[in-house]
Amino acid sequence: MEIPGCLMTIFGATGDLTHRKLIPALYQLQCQGLLPDDFSILAVGRRALTTRSYLEQIRQSAVKYSADFSSGVWNALENRIEYIRVDILNKDSFIRLAEIINKGRAESRYACNDMFYLAVAPEYFAPIVNGLDSIRLIDHTPADTSDDSKKWQRFVIEKPFGKDLASASELNRSLTSVIPEESIYRIDHYLAKEMIQNITMLRSRNTIFEPLWNHNYIDNIQISILERDGVGSRGGYYDNSGALRDMVQNHLLQIVAVLAMDLTPDNKAEQIRDEKVRLLSSLKIDFKSDPAPVVLGQYRSYRSEQHVTADSATETFAALKVSVDNERWQGVPFYLVTGKKLSAKAALVSVEFKKPAGSQQDDIPANLLQIGIQPQEGIHLKLNMKKPTVTDEMDVAEMEYCQSCYYDFNSPDSYEKLLLDVMLGDSTRFTRWDELRLSWKLTDDIAEYCNRNNILDLYDDDSAGPGSAVNMIKAYGRRWWHLDEGSNKPMPFFCRTDNRRRQ
Ligand code: BG6
Repeated sequence: MEIPGCLMTIFGATGDLTHRKLIPALYQLQCQGLLPDDFSILAVGRRALTTRSYLEQIRQSAVKYSADFSSGVWNALENRIEYIRVDILNKDSFIRLAEIINKGRAESRYACNDMFYLAVAPEYFAPIVNGLDSIRLIDHTPADTSDDSKKWQRFVIEKPFGKDLASASELNRSLTSVIPEESIYRIDHYLAKEMIQNITMLRSRNTIFEPLWNHNYIDNIQISILERDGVGSRGGYYDNSGALRDMVQNHLLQIVAVLAMDLTPDNKAEQIRDEKVRLLSSLKIDFKSDPAPVVLGQYRSYRSEQHVTADSATETFAALKVSVDNERWQGVPFYLVTGKKLSAKAALVSVEFKKPAGSQQDDIPANLLQIGIQPQEGIHLKLNMKKPTVTDEMDVAEMEYCQSCYYDFNSPDSYEKLLLDVMLGDSTRFTRWDELRLSWKLTDDIAEYCNRNNILDLYDDDSAGPGSAVNMIKAYGRRWWHLDEGSNKPMPFFCRTDNRRRQ
């Protein structure tokens, strides 16, 4: 794998995302020798810092967020970084930025390829792109995705990409009036989580799942993303967003798409994205259904969080039932749930199979395939087996593959993978505009329904979420697989073979 060099210009270099995610990811890439010699970083921020003082700050983040900090690796990364102060709203600042970049190129210190990383609040996306355009740093020749040796410019856009369909469309219009869609890499970091990537592998490289991956054999699919933390210091953003826009519109709907789309003959980015679009366009919610298909909740202490309004009606929990209106998934409900300030942190997918046809079905537990996304990665498969006794008693056998136990190293963080993808021009794990448009449309419909029906239940901090979510799924004749059935307490995905190691 030859990784082309580039100049990575990070807007928002002093921000939280750069400290928590980008710098540690770059550090890991440096550690693994994956950064080419001609890879340099121009860190752009509003604060009056020198390169030296900036490096001191980010070194602390690298130490804090990297399990295995080494000064040698850090020094090598540090040598690639320069800090420059830019006021995004001031044209003169952009002129200075252009001078620095052009000088670096004239002196052959910077590669000719550009990765512009926009780790800033969404209202700055368009001003930055327009600012770069005003100083002629944007190359308007169409991106040539077929030729790896051609010079490229790629723009990585963080979420949130809009707050509803109208604002997302407006943002997209203003970006694509300057840069082509092919050069835009919209981040959804869940797509780069190891076990989300593994879903396609599991489906396509085993003959035992794909023939069953349809309404004939699957009863329902659940996607649960539970968080222990509350909104912390992000109250200002979150209070205008909420669980539906912050988690469902992007991460959860993307996971539905990856799970339910038709597989493509080869793993070409555009084919995969076409299939995801096809799937997202068949997602439906029956708003007339009884019981209601959506439950929203808010944790009790939310209104006293920093930057949250005292009478906020923003949801910090959402549970919903969606369906896929196509032949493969006819009648199979997809239950999605996510929430903050819950008593466990866990992200998992549960695929519940139909019970065998015949008598006494109630006594037979369903086969269940669970995919643990975090904190532990792995899969569980529940099978019904004969107990080794003289009677014909049945027992549930649980087979598991604990990826976190088998591999000694930590899985790469999503951002390592995503940065590498951008350098390699692989857009598979980034969302295309038509995917986003469809997921915003659905999210707008859900939000509108919730506003109309005034849906919001309070739930205790550090609990399993509102009881109405349990009632909802019960009313549909199912149970949540992330909750223990007896106590209704969160039951994160844990492997029993935790202490086993691959020899
Ligand atoms: C982000 C959301 O996209 O994902 C956050 O804005 C959320 O609110 C986070 O906490 C969850 O990501 P992860 O990787 O910690 O599960």
